[in-house]
Amino acid sequence: MPADSKTNESVSMIDNTTGKKVDFPLLTGTEGPKVIDIRTLYSGLGFFTYDPGYTSTGSTESKITYIDGDAGILRHRGYSIEELAEKSDYMETCYLLLHGELPTSAQKEDFENTITRHTMVHDQMNNFFRGFRRDAHPMAVMCGVVGAMAAFYHDSTDITDPHQRLVASHRLIAKMPTIAAMTYKYSIGQPFMYPRNDLDYAENFLYMMFAVPCEAYKVNPVLSKAMDRIFILHADHEQNASTSTVRLAGSTGANPFACIAAGIASLWGPAHGGANEAVLAMLGKIGTKENIPAFIQKVKDKEEMLMGFGHRVYKNYDPRAKIMARTCHEVLSELNIKNEPLLDMAIEMEQIALNDKYFVDRKLYPNVDFYSGIILKAMGIPVSMFTVLFAVARTVGWIAQWSELIADPAQKIGRPRQLYTGAAPRNYAPLHLRK
Ligand code: SDX
Repeated sequence: MPADSKTNESVSMIDNTTGKKVDFPLLTGTEGPKVIDIRTLYSGLGFFTYDPGYTSTGSTESKITYIDGDAGILRHRGYSIEELAEKSDYMETCYLLLHGELPTSAQKEDFENTITRHTMVHDQMNNFFRGFRRDAHPMAVMCGVVGAMAAFYHDSTDITDPHQRLVASHRLIAKMPTIAAMTYKYSIGQPFMYPRNDLDYAENFLYMMFAVPCEAYKVNPVLSKAMDRIFILHADHEQNASTSTVRLAGSTGANPFACIAAGIASLWGPAHGGANEAVLAMLGKIGTKENIPAFIQKVKDKEEMLMGFGHRVYKNYDPRAKIMARTCHEVLSELNIKNEPLLDMAIEMEQIALNDKYFVDRKLYPNVDFYSGIILKAMGIPVSMFTVLFAVARTVGWIAQWSELIADPAQKIGRPRQLYTGAAPRNYAPLHLRK
């Protein structure tokens, strides 16, 4: 805990049974609510706290991302997501997340060069893919292949060496689009496309996804710009479930590739990154605009969930969803798609939900996943790849948070406690006496 987080204020807790009182210091960050430092709770009062889902628990201090959920604010290293999405690009945002400052032009050039020159994967990894069924979900393949990177890049798994940590970060950011595109190519039986060093990060990803060796492929600049923005919007989001998974795995001293594979597994769930895929499934199931009111009623009756809506932290519009909705219109117009029934349905559902007491009372607004799937679908990205794209973009956030954890001299292995509600002590019954 940094010394400048300390305040002179404290909160007292009294055990009403014994009358014992303990004071807990209040900590203050740069922004956000004050935090009670309860580390001495067990030694002082003999109690644990109970907070499943961590609704009121801070697991770490961090300098990377700030969210004010009530105001709908998201900032990386102090810069608003709106400004980054409009003025920055994904490579620059990656540098910012990793190093804390925007790069100078020389630093930017050097960083882009480093990432570009790490995009190829070890040639033997091609064989690794062939062990998977072609109809495997790409997220299943991603978990396996990224975890397997630890078996290929031995010279960047010593987490005590800052240089190796940086090399692992570069490798992960650079190779994720290559691996992601390979999962797609493998699923459709097309040859893998090698990355091209003359293309930028987003262009390269689209190229590796959609090009084939037998003809030239030209990346549409509007689409690559939109893809770059989608990457920025997903780059980091403080202590979300997958990032917390990466940090927990990292706290054991596990290598970075294993930690990121754990993050990918955690992201896959429909309550988290898998929601972008689930939104499309939901819209498909609803079918037409006329069926929306009946679906909304089912949501209110708790028979269905409105995917892409609601957030643990945002009790206001997710700022990323606003930018995503704008980007969606830009992409559809570039592609000359005048009528996209999915977009019409999404807009209509949003309007109904934002004016319905059920959603208003619970402060449920569209989140980052609500519109992203519609853009990705319009760009020709198959639905099963949506969460993979989230994983590609989030890798920088995961690795930046992992690096922050490892560099923190005060970091300890993550080890929550529990409220035990199982059997009381009892005697072992021999097999012949059991009923
Ligand atoms: C991401 O944490 C992050 O930062 C994640 C993320 C990131 O960038 O890393 O932002 C990415 O994961 C976005 C979220 C994607 N998930 C979805 O779109 C799935 C649908 N959303 C819900 O599953 C839910 O809103 C969560 C998981 C996102 C948040 O869950 P919480 O905070 O635990 O909220 P809750 O379940 O306690 O809900 C409170 C109330 C409940 O009603 P009551 O019991 O009080 O009557 O709101 C209801 C819920 O039933 N509710 C919903 C709803 N979300 C919450 N009702 C209908 N549809 C929904 N989507």
